[in-house]
Amino acid sequence: MSTRPDQSATAEGVSIAGAPPPLAAKEVSVVYRTRGDFGRRTARHALNRTSIEVNYGELVALVGESGSGKSTLSKVLLDLASPSAGEVAYHGKALNTLTRTEMRAYRNEVQVVFQDPAASLNPRQRIWKCLASVLELRGVRSQLELNEEITKLLTGVGLNPAESFARRFPHELSGGQQQRVAIARALAMKPRIVIADEPLSALDVSVQAQVLDLMIDHQKRTNAGYLLVTHDLNVVRAVADRVVVMYLGSVVEMGDAEQIFERPQHPYTRALLSSRLSIDASKRRIRDRPILTGDVPSTTAIPSGCAYHPRCPIAVERCSIDAPEPRVTGDGSSVACHLAE
Ligand SMILES: Nc1ncnc2c1ncn2[C@@H]1O[C@H](COP(=O)(O)OP(=O)(O)OP(=O)(O)O)[C@@H](O)[C@H]1O
Ligand SMILES: [Mg+2]
Repeated sequence: MSTRPDQSATAEGVSIAGAPPPLAAKEVSVVYRTRGDFGRRTARHALNRTSIEVNYGELVALVGESGSGKSTLSKVLLDLASPSAGEVAYHGKALNTLTRTEMRAYRNEVQVVFQDPAASLNPRQRIWKCLASVLELRGVRSQLELNEEITKLLTGVGLNPAESFARRFPHELSGGQQQRVAIARALAMKPRIVIADEPLSALDVSVQAQVLDLMIDHQKRTNAGYLLVTHDLNVVRAVADRVVVMYLGSVVEMGDAEQIFERPQHPYTRALLSSRLSIDASKRRIRDRPILTGDVPSTTAIPSGCAYHPRCPIAVERCSIDAPEPRVTGDGSSVACHLAE
C-alpha cells in the first residue's frame, strides 16, 4: 500500500490522482518446488500474498534479511518468475492480459540492474554491441545515430572516453565500470521504472557511492520510479522515499521512509533497524529496540500465524494462530502485526 495514494501515472510519468500505479504486484505468491536430500520434494514458499507498488517519482527501498523474498519479488515484477497466485499489473492491467503493444511498452519501460554486472553482460560482446542491440529495440538504426547515442550513454555513466570503453569487452573493465555499463544498458531504454537488486553489493566500497549517485541522479532527473533492493540500511536512510520491509515472503511493514526510521512499528522492523542504530544513534533508542536474534526459519516450514512470532519478543498466543493482515495505522504506514500501536 502506498503512502501516496494519489500518486500515480500516465505513460509520460505525470502523476494523475486516482490512476492505477504503473507497476504493482497484487497478493503474489511464489512457491519453488525443488528436490532436497535423498530426492525428497520440498516446497519453498518464497512469496506469500505479497503486494507492492512502484510509482513514478519515488524511490522505494525493499529490505529484509537474506531469504525474505526480495529477489523473487523483483523477478515477479520483471516477469522473470511466474507467481503461483496473484498477479502483476502494469498501469492496472494484469501482465497476462496485455496486448502485444502494451507488453512491448512494459518491457521497454521497466528495466533492471542486477547485483552481479559480470554475469549480466555477455562476455563475447563488446560494450558497443551490447548497447547497440538495446538501442535497436528502441528503433535507433543508423550507425551514426547509434554511435552518438552510445557515446552519450557511456559519458552519462562516467565512462570517458566513451569511444575507448565502447570498443572493450566486459572482462577489460573493473566491476564498477561493468556496473556502469549495466546501468547504461538499462537507461538506453529510457526506462520509467528501474528495479535494482543489490546493485552495489558486488562493487568495491570505493565506487559504491558513485554508482548509487548515478542512479539517484537518473531517478531525480527523469522522475522515474525506482525499486532498490539493498541490505545497506544507511543507503536506505539516505535515499529512500518509501520503505517496504519483508520477512519470510511477506511484507510486514511499509511506509514513508522518515516514518519507518523514526517510528518503526512492526517488531521485526524495529529489530532490523536496531542493527543500524547500534552504530549511530543515542543509547536510549538502542535500549528501546531489540536486537535481531535467532535464525530466520526455513521457507520450507513457515511458522503458523505471524511468521515472525517464534523470534518476536512481544508475541502473545494469538500471534502463533492468526496471521495478521496488513492494516493502515494512524501515521499512514501499513503494518501486519496484531500488536502494533
Ligand atoms: N530458483 C530457486 N529455486 C528454489 N528456491 C529458490 C530459488 N530462488 C529463491 N529460492 C528460495 O526462495 C526464498 C527467497 O529467496 P530470495 O532470493 O527471493 O530472497 P532474498 O530476499 O533476495 O535473499 P538475499 O538477501 O539473500 O538476496 C529463499 O528461501 C530461497 O532459498
Ligand atoms: Mg536477493
